[in-house]
Amino acid sequence: MPIVGFYSKNSTVELQIEWEKRLRVHLPSLKLVPLLSKDAEQATSALLWNSPLEILNKLKNLKGLISLGQGVDHILKNNLIPKNLPIVRIVDPYMAKSMSHWVILSILNFVRDAYGYYEQEKNKQYKSRKELNFLSLKIGIYGVGAIGSVVAKDLHNLGFAVEGWSRTKKEIEGVKSYYGENSIEKLIKNCDIHVCLLPLTPLTTNIFNTSTFAKMKRGSCFINAGRGDQVVENDLIEKCKSGHISSAILDVYRDEPLPKNHKFWQQSNIRIWPHVAAETNPETAAKQIANAINCIEIGKLPPNTIDRNLGY
Ligand code: NAP
Ligand code: GLV
Repeated sequence: MPIVGFYSKNSTVELQIEWEKRLRVHLPSLKLVPLLSKDAEQATSALLWNSPLEILNKLKNLKGLISLGQGVDHILKNNLIPKNLPIVRIVDPYMAKSMSHWVILSILNFVRDAYGYYEQEKNKQYKSRKELNFLSLKIGIYGVGAIGSVVAKDLHNLGFAVEGWSRTKKEIEGVKSYYGENSIEKLIKNCDIHVCLLPLTPLTTNIFNTSTFAKMKRGSCFINAGRGDQVVENDLIEKCKSGHISSAILDVYRDEPLPKNHKFWQQSNIRIWPHVAAETNPETAAKQIANAINCIEIGKLPPNTIDRNLGY
């Protein structure tokens, strides 16, 4: 009977019960126990989101960790986890599609000036606003992995010109692909709308800063659903104030929840979402998580185990 330690920041008992119910469809003998309880000493794997990490080193029966999301930076931060402990992440097409919907929503709001129309409506103003020609806009997707590749394809199918950037070479139909450290410059200079879907690693930390923003075209739109630490927030605020970045749509922040006194709230061309662009769905993710728990239990490396050297 696999015993699994469970921790999801801000989660309720109900959430743990829901996960247990969903996972038991695939692994009927499984037992979920709160990670911070005495029962967790027996756990062979742990299912985590934003958990305290020190506790994990005290659980001597642990053979693997599973992220309750597609990102694993919350587990790798501070380098506390032994290298030999496999870390598994969710890769769920449902989440990729959900992210695609959020990115499309953000881009169409920008292109059609939806916020301008909402303002007009408040003042009963019935008049057309300047419309951008979508044929002349290029969209750059930074990170074309499990999520970014779906977003890139969907945007291409909507009629946009799309370019993608990754570490290794990619072939995505209809999408111009660049790879390797230096080629990021192409997207930064070519594109009008910049969408960050990168994982957080030492190489992607602070990747969007004054220097990167300055190279973007004046009036660019910047969208971030990767991780907050990829953006130097004061640099973004300065560029939004000057209008160099005409609109920023953000879902992730260095400090979450975004503090009430954060300057982002004051900047009218920065749109704030509370880290909901693509939420984990227990219904669609349960099967692969149950499989990962089972693999860990029998000493097999689960699919979607991350590469510790790359950090994602
Ligand atoms: P993934 O499949 O691992 O894809 C990551 C992509 O980034 C890959 O294309 C990878 O290139 C590229 N990449 C990584 N480091 C790079 C570097 N140094 N230079 C160039 N390209 C680099 O990850 P995913 O499942 O798509 O998820 C991506 C991230 O989205 C997650 O880590 C998480 O931070 C974020 N996310 C956010 C939400 C939300 O609700 N806001 C939801 C889910 C995920 P290669 O393919 O060549 O390795
Ligand atoms: C959400 O941010 C995730 O990484 O799944």
